[in-house]
Amino acid sequence: MKARRALLYMPGDDWNKINKAISVQVDSICMDMEDGTALNRKDYARDNIAKALQELSFGKSEKLARINSIGSGFEQQDLAAVLPWRPDGIVIPKIEALDHIQWASDMIEAAELANGWPMNSIRILVVVETARGIINLKEIASHPRLDALIFGAEDFAANIGATRSRAAWEVMFARSAVVTHAAAYDLQAIDMVFIDFRDSLNLKIEAAQGAAMGFTGKQIIHPAQVHPVQEAYTPNDAAIEYARRVQETFVAHQAEGAGAYELDGQMIDMPILKNARKVLERAQAAGKI
Ligand code: COA
Ligand code: MG
Repeated sequence: MKARRALLYMPGDDWNKINKAISVQVDSICMDMEDGTALNRKDYARDNIAKALQELSFGKSEKLARINSIGSGFEQQDLAAVLPWRPDGIVIPKIEALDHIQWASDMIEAAELANGWPMNSIRILVVVETARGIINLKEIASHPRLDALIFGAEDFAANIGATRSRAAWEVMFARSAVVTHAAAYDLQAIDMVFIDFRDSLNLKIEAAQGAAMGFTGKQIIHPAQVHPVQEAYTPNDAAIEYARRVQETFVAHQAEGAGAYELDGQMIDMPILKNARKVLERAQAAGKI
């Protein structure tokens, strides 16, 4: 699966921001028809995204379109407007049930069949950002067209009546539930937006925290956030080097009949090896090794 270390949103009605996004070499570009687009600009955003998909070359960046939530009344037209131009994936916000995904998946499948595109090639990513979404994660995460679970902290806090804070304790259970369900179903987990887009120091801290929690990437809303976030979600040279040493020494010790041994003053056994493998997998997915 392609690494989605940073997933950059922009309002779908903003041609300049779509072009700007293409120029910053971000893993994923998500053109938004939902909350980033004003109510009276939904039609314009649909046409604008369709035009971008047709006319612009996105380079190595992934092309995603975020539709309005299922039940909003906009979702059918949103999906119909972008599907003919073959986005790489569809992002569904405020997901609460498996049949929300199935509805979108059926429409996507019809487009794949009609155009002769490979089945399941257009992926779905869902934003879990309500209390119902969190308690239904087990069924939501099981859909076969799904690539990623995305955590939406602002909507979630609004939904449960929490006040957002820098430490983010108020969303910790939900954030952690998203990572855990993603891991259980072999999906990517994409962390919350850091909305103070001029504060790069605290962005780095929050991105590092998300990576340490097990997230594979983070949503972003400004070009200045691309580099710090992609860096936080790419294993650094020291981490890669250490993971390789763990792997090598582990094999040698196993051959000698030792399941646990010491490396740099620390105990190494199977879970440490598994973690080292994850680091190498992520470095590989990010194109670093
Ligand atoms: N994607 C692409 N380009 C963006 C961008 C984004 N999300 N946010 C800002 N830019 C561009 C600006 O257009 C500007 O380009 P220019 O130099 O060619 O004029 C440049 O980056 C600098 O932008 P800046 O002036 O610092 O910010 P702004 O005041 O133009 O925009 C926001 C601030 C918050 C309105 C803007 O970042 C934004 O729209 N973010 C995304 C919002 C969104 O999609 N929300 C829904 C999902 S959570
Ligand atoms: Mg939201």
